[in-house]
Amino acid sequence: MSKIGIIQFAPKLGKVNENIQTINELIASKRRCDLYVLPELANSGYRFKNRDEAVLYSERTTNSPFLNALVAIAVAKEAYLVSGFCERSGDKLYNSSVLVGPEGLIGVYRKLHLFLDEKDIFETGDLGLPVFDTPLGKIGMQICFDWMFPETWRVLAMKGAQLIAHPANLVLSYCQGVVQSYAIINKFFIATANRTGKERDLKFTGQSVLVSPEGIVLKRGEEEENKLIKHEVDLSQALNKHITPRNHALNDRRSDVYGDLNLN
Ligand code: ACM
Repeated sequence: MSKIGIIQFAPKLGKVNENIQTINELIASKRRCDLYVLPELANSGYRFKNRDEAVLYSERTTNSPFLNALVAIAVAKEAYLVSGFCERSGDKLYNSSVLVGPEGLIGVYRKLHLFLDEKDIFETGDLGLPVFDTPLGKIGMQICFDWMFPETWRVLAMKGAQLIAHPANLVLSYCQGVVQSYAIINKFFIATANRTGKERDLKFTGQSVLVSPEGIVLKRGEEEENKLIKHEVDLSQALNKHITPRNHALNDRRSDVYGDLNLN
């Protein structure tokens, strides 16, 4: 069994130290989890005035105060963390998600589908759809508006992901319902960690959700509250892809009719 903790909070724009402090306080508010999932751009905040402001609040994956703080938590709690991360690489910016464990930075995913003005700030992701094998099970990542694209979820399922960690800064309210369907269709767990609060002209919708492979909402946050939302799950359930004894979510696909997905 694995204890999953969704950290729902309102990252402050450009205040990485305050964001680290809030994360530490929320983690300290409950007994340890095996995996913590944080919102999108949890180091930097979201609603940048322009690209220059985003550059100012971005970090590289080396010598990052935010990543160092996450690794310190991972070591102290013997846990894994997935978090949104405003990443600078060379002179490019990515809306990224990192997977961190006691051993350090394990992997990075860069958001494939940019939302609205993100298109003026970030490059589209160039690292594909990686799945990482951890002692808890296989973990894939999506970031916020990626939710709109069924192909990404399916590719992650076909690559064996048992849980999709989904950092989000949702401003629309469709996603929390849609992920229930994606969980059923792909027979995996989804942990959508959405932020709260208001930033400039944007209001975020909270209501983070942890969903089972049967599409059951195991936990759902409130719209406004900043909270560690915790629940224990058996990730091995996501290894069973049978819908009925004679129907399999992946093996019954008719790629001969509608083509196949790129699993590279
Ligand atoms: C979003 O992708 N942050 C809505």
